[in-house]
Amino acid sequence: MKLSKILISGVRNISSAELAPSPALNLIIGENGSGKTSLLESIYILSTARSFRTVKIRNIVSSVEATVDKALIYGEITSGSSGVMEAQQGVEVSNKGKVRARRNGASVTNASILAHALPVQLINSDTFQLLEGSPKIRRQYMDWGLFHVEHDYVESWSRFNRALKQRNRLLRYGKLTGLEAQLKPWNEELAACAEQIHSLRMDHMSELAPKIESKFSQMCLVAGLDVSYRSGWDNEVTYGDYLANNFERDRVLGYTRDGPHRADLSIKLEGLQASERLSRGQSKMLVCALKLVQGDIVSDIRGYKTIYLVDDLPSELDAENRDVFLKQLKETKGQVFITAVDESFMIVDKDSSLTNAVFHVKQGVFSKVK
Ligand SMILES: Nc1ncnc2c1ncn2[C@@H]1O[C@H](COP(=O)(O)OP(=O)(O)O)[C@@H](O)[C@H]1O
Ligand SMILES: [Mg+2]
Repeated sequence: MKLSKILISGVRNISSAELAPSPALNLIIGENGSGKTSLLESIYILSTARSFRTVKIRNIVSSVEATVDKALIYGEITSGSSGVMEAQQGVEVSNKGKVRARRNGASVTNASILAHALPVQLINSDTFQLLEGSPKIRRQYMDWGLFHVEHDYVESWSRFNRALKQRNRLLRYGKLTGLEAQLKPWNEELAACAEQIHSLRMDHMSELAPKIESKFSQMCLVAGLDVSYRSGWDNEVTYGDYLANNFERDRVLGYTRDGPHRADLSIKLEGLQASERLSRGQSKMLVCALKLVQGDIVSDIRGYKTIYLVDDLPSELDAENRDVFLKQLKETKGQVFITAVDESFMIVDKDSSLTNAVFHVKQGVFSKVK
């Protein structure tokens, strides 16, 4: 999917902007504080109804003008080749934090609908935590693909989490007598969901892993990466049995220690954690490879392209890696938005064939220069 038109008003320092981006690579150039990240944030909100910068979404509403009480983001979406508008999507955020979304004129109450129609992958300085950060970040990475390609997944995952909350509440506050019996229905629900989540994750990762390994070796000429999925419990036994066998431990702890909520990805090279074995630059390229492969899978299975938002590329990758990554982004044939403080990094793009549109931004005002 591609955005052929973006309208933004009242988002941070962007009082009003109208952009007609290229369906390929868009470069956004501006000084620090000019509004580059705010543009990427706006596109991200259009896809997810959430911000990647704050959990308090009301903070995105411009506080400059007293009359502005909401932020509006609107996008026209094409599937790429035809260039004909196929859908419209809009998100409104009030300064009280109320989010309202519309798609093709109808109001949307489930944000998944927005994201399914407009898959977005973000690459910013936080993304590079993927290898070294907590397992939660890697679960989110894995789940992004499942969310887009397996529509049952979200349902199983939210059912699992609801049941987990109930089980944990009982473990923590329930009376000891009869506790096992009280846990039984929740154990059954958890077991059913866990098996489904596990099997979908396993299939997804067995498809993803070899692609990540080959993408990374192509990008960095480093072979032998080993990506594997960890279920989050000792899955020699079913999750139902596992919960029953470990009841006493969980009771003492007061929560359900293991399960799909503890799943992880192991990314190793020559037996060591990849992040310990690779240089900083190579680690970052590995994260880029991970992101590219997720986007590719969505395009292959769903038949439409992921939009890439890459914030402050030059400060994240050195010239050589940038060149490799830019070419990979170009090869996705999807729409890409890259921000940078100045254009000089595009020196790799000698014949300027990589960038298709260049926007300059100054104090929240965007102008197209190419
Ligand atoms: N709610 C807000 N209202 C008005 N301005 C804001 C708000 N939040 C942030 N800003 C300002 O918006 C500007 C743009 O920020 P940002 O998009 O991060 O710039 P860049 O990515 O180009 O460095 C900053 O100067 C910041 O102070
Ligand atoms: Mg920024």
